[in-house]
Amino acid sequence: MNSLVATSRNFRKAACLLGLDSKLEKSLLIPFREVKVECTIPKDDGTMASYVGFRVQHDNSRGPMKGGIRYHPEVDPDEVNALAQLMTWKTAVVDLPYGGAKGGIGCSPRDLSKSELERLTRVFTQKIHDLIGIHTDIPAPDMGTNSQTMAWILDEYSKFHGHSPAVVTGKPIDLGGSLGREAATGRGVVYATEALLAEYGKSISGMTFVIQGFGNVGSWAARLIHERGGRIIALSDITGAMEDPRGIDIPALLKHKGEGGLLNDFQGATPMDANELLIHECDVLLPCALGGVLNRENAGEVKAKFIIEAANHPTDPEADEILSKKGVVILPDIYTNAGGVTVSYFEWVQNIQGFMWDEEKVNVELQRYMRKAFENIKAMCRTHSCSLRMGAFTLGVSRVARATLLRGWGA
Ligand SMILES: NC(=O)c1ccc[n+]([C@@H]2O[C@H](COP(=O)([O-])OP(=O)(O)OC[C@H]3O[C@@H](n4cnc5c(N)ncnc54)[C@H](O)[C@@H]3O)[C@@H](O)[C@H]2O)c1
Repeated sequence: MNSLVATSRNFRKAACLLGLDSKLEKSLLIPFREVKVECTIPKDDGTMASYVGFRVQHDNSRGPMKGGIRYHPEVDPDEVNALAQLMTWKTAVVDLPYGGAKGGIGCSPRDLSKSELERLTRVFTQKIHDLIGIHTDIPAPDMGTNSQTMAWILDEYSKFHGHSPAVVTGKPIDLGGSLGREAATGRGVVYATEALLAEYGKSISGMTFVIQGFGNVGSWAARLIHERGGRIIALSDITGAMEDPRGIDIPALLKHKGEGGLLNDFQGATPMDANELLIHECDVLLPCALGGVLNRENAGEVKAKFIIEAANHPTDPEADEILSKKGVVILPDIYTNAGGVTVSYFEWVQNIQGFMWDEEKVNVELQRYMRKAFENIKAMCRTHSCSLRMGAFTLGVSRVARATLLRGWGA
């Protein structure tokens, strides 16, 4: 099931639980605006190359639209649409004054030189500069883009509109980026995990964890879980998987990777079959890599008691049903990985105020937002007797529906 179908299905289930008016339901699904732009650039060898760029602005009833820009060969309008919609519910779940958007360019960033990427980003910005803005739509990095991409967008946008650091988030610190932004998603995942475990009278200390993915989110989550006394007994990335029942030495692994080593060259743990990772015995499983990794083929064999969806859309709806029947508790992605967009919001606030927060303030505020959202999700679960996923969806959808109605929808 593709991500648009899955997201729309969860939205419809939430709309049904909330008893939303069917016309309002239909209206909330239709994006505010979708644009498709042609981006032609000279390559380094002098030949010309054309790419297609997208920006989908899904909803702005709660505030400016917010969402990443992705550079990937498989970027297509359906996927961008699903991700924009997801951002609308996600920003509402953590109660940020934002709507949702997403964008991308169908390209393979690995096959482009730095100067080609810069030209492509600048042409894309020229095509969408009058659609984005500090109070309209604020892009951020996503797959295939990074703080350098945001710096180019900021520079190009500022040529048209004057110096505007708040037009993008995830910027380099020297251009107005926020302290704590790099760690924010992984840190938010850990705060979310702590909130969930506390409900069951448990804490990270002494529990066993399995983590798929050791990139930005997975490595920060691993570092912070290790610091809190959690035992990470198996871990993987694209190069392979490893296990150690006593707990993998995460600081040693981070040092190894920091020195340019590959995860599967690390000598401090025993290599294992990557296909066995998700069904490894553990208390808590954290998918921090790809979508759709938990599906009807493997869901029945999962042994974890808790699944923390740090990646976007790691559990497909069929697996969701199988796991729920087994009593596995799933903390849903639209809440779990919202720490990134939350600190992006703090970055935007700092840029508008012209005042930089220290890292401690960023982390304290992030924890406050994650805890509050968890309490609000639990309240929805009680009201609607539903799963945490539906608790999060009903929370996000009800907030957006209320804002839409208050603005005078239907008038
Ligand atoms: N970075 C953020 O701020 C952020 C915010 C919200 C959601 N997410 C989601 O979190 C997930 C991870 O994002 P990231 O920023 O850490 O990406 P990343 O590119 O930094 O890391 C991805 C990791 O996944 C690993 N991986 C890829 N294919 C794999 C496979 N088949 N098996 C095991 N590992 C594999 C890679 O080796 C890498 O370690 C994605 O689903 C992303 O959409 C990220």
